[in-house]
Amino acid sequence: MPKKILMVCLGNICRSPLAEGILAHLAADLDLVIDSAGTGDWHQGQMPDVRSIAIANKYGIDITNQRARHFKAADLDRFDCIYAMDKSNYENILRLAKTDEQRNKVKLILNESFPDEDREVPDPYYRGDDGFDNVYLMLEQACKKIITQL
Ligand code: 4NP
Repeated sequence: MPKKILMVCLGNICRSPLAEGILAHLAADLDLVIDSAGTGDWHQGQMPDVRSIAIANKYGIDITNQRARHFKAADLDRFDCIYAMDKSNYENILRLAKTDEQRNKVKLILNESFPDEDREVPDPYYRGDDGFDNVYLMLEQACKKIITQL
């Protein structure tokens, strides 16, 4: 059975689509199922933000096939590992968890690259394009770490 990894942010249009795209790109040869979702439901069905599409494109990754979806409680059973981009996403996911097994699947993604520091991927939605560059580099570093630990 392939390992199933879910990336989660708020809108599922900026950060988690990038995380999904980067991990899928780095893990192209590995047997993984990778998806992303948002703890908010406003952008369901939408393509990633144009700024996320552009920064992924700059690094040779196409994320235009992704469509935003709302995180649901069933994801806590469907996935083996759930990476939250920030503490608010993390808390929102944990609120839906009913068992320790589910709770243990949920992690802050930057704890992969900065163990135990509880750093957050900043929400770039209301920022300029430089925010997206920064987010891309943070996520790439974390995804590389995730792969070495598989
Ligand atoms: P994301 O960014 O959580 O990285 O997808 C956001 C996208 C949309 C909104 C907030 C954050 N919003 O408020 O609509």
